[in-house]
Amino acid sequence: MSERRAVVSVEALSKQFQGGIGRRAKRALRDVTFSVREGEIFGFVGPNGAGKTTTLKILMGLIRADAGRATVLGHDVRETEFRRHVGFLPEAPYFYDYLTGREVLEFYARVCGVERARRRERVETLLEWVGLSHAGDARLRTYSKGMLQRVGIAQALVHDPQVVFLDEPMSGLDPIGRKEIRDLVVRLHAEGKTVFMNTHILSDVEMLCHRVAIIVQGEIRYEGDPHAMLEGEVRDTDVVLTGVAPALIESLDASVQGGLRGVGDRIELRVPHKAVGDLLGKALAAGAEVVSVSPRRATLESLFLTAVEQGGRQ
Ligand SMILES: Nc1ncnc2c1ncn2[C@@H]1O[C@H](COP(=O)(O)OP(=O)(O)OP(=O)(O)O)[C@@H](O)[C@H]1O
Ligand SMILES: [Mg+2]
Repeated sequence: MSERRAVVSVEALSKQFQGGIGRRAKRALRDVTFSVREGEIFGFVGPNGAGKTTTLKILMGLIRADAGRATVLGHDVRETEFRRHVGFLPEAPYFYDYLTGREVLEFYARVCGVERARRRERVETLLEWVGLSHAGDARLRTYSKGMLQRVGIAQALVHDPQVVFLDEPMSGLDPIGRKEIRDLVVRLHAEGKTVFMNTHILSDVEMLCHRVAIIVQGEIRYEGDPHAMLEGEVRDTDVVLTGVAPALIESLDASVQGGLRGVGDRIELRVPHKAVGDLLGKALAAGAEVVSVSPRRATLESLFLTAVEQGGRQ
C-alpha cells in the first residue's frame, strides 16, 4: 500500500487563532505532518480541541494555515478547480429543515453542477444508497439524528467525488446509527473512494480505519496502522473456567492478579501471562473446563489516554 499515491499530503502545517482583546492567541496546530493514501479509510483521531476540525477546514480551503503546505489530489488546497472531486460532511451541517430529503439533495446536486438531466436519477440513487428512499418526501424536521447524518453523507456524494472528508460522522448517534454510518463508510471504501474521517470514537477507528494519525493539542503523536499500535506486549490474561471444585479455588488464589470473581462453579480470573500455562494445567487436572482464555492487550483507548495525559488536557 505504501507505493500508492498520497491523496492528502500535509506538511508542517501551523495555525494560530488571534485571541480577542486582552486574550492570548491560541496555537491550534504546530508542525502538523501526515498523509493519506489512495483508497484507504484514514482516521484523524484526537480529543476535543485537538485541532481536527481546524486541519479539515484548511484542507477544504475554508481557512488558511499560517505556515506549511497542504495538498489534496496533488493540488494546493488554495486552488479551487480540483474541489469537484472532493466531498465534505461538516462537523455540524445545517440544512433547511422545512425541505424534504429529496429536495435537499436536489439542491446540492444543482449547486455541485450535476447536469439537469442526470440530477433526478442521481438523487434517487443516493437516497437508496443511504437507506432513505422511504423518507425522501418527509421534511428534515421529522428526521432522526441518524437520518440527518445519512442525508449529510449523501450530500457529500452528490457529485461522485474521489475523496470524501467526514468531520465526526458518528458523533451523537446511538450504536445502531453508528453501525449504519460505519457500513456506509465501508461501502465508500469498496467503491474505491478515499475516506478521511475525523473522530474521537476509538472503537470505530479500530473497526474501520486502515491508518490513523493521532493529534493531541495541535501536535501529531502517531501516524500509522492503528492495530500495530495495539500489538504491545501482553501482560495479563483473563481465564474463565467452569466445573471448578472449591479446593481448586483455594489453590489458585495465590497466582491470581486482579481478583477472582465467580458465580457457582464458574470463575473468572486474571493472571500474569506467563502463569497461564501453569494455571490451565492445574485447572484441567482438577477436572475444570476452560471456557475462554483472553490475552489483554493495550487498547487504543488506553494508548489514547496516555497520549492525552502526556500532552496535558486543555
Ligand atoms: N475560530 C477560532 N477562534 C479561536 N480559536 C479557535 C477557533 N477555531 C478553533 N479554535 C481553537 O483551536 C483549537 C482546536 O479546535 P478544533 O475545532 O480544530 O478541535 P477539534 O479537534 O475539532 O475538537 P472537537 O473534537 O471538539 O471537534 C481549540 O482550542 C479551539 O478552541
Ligand atoms: Mg471538531
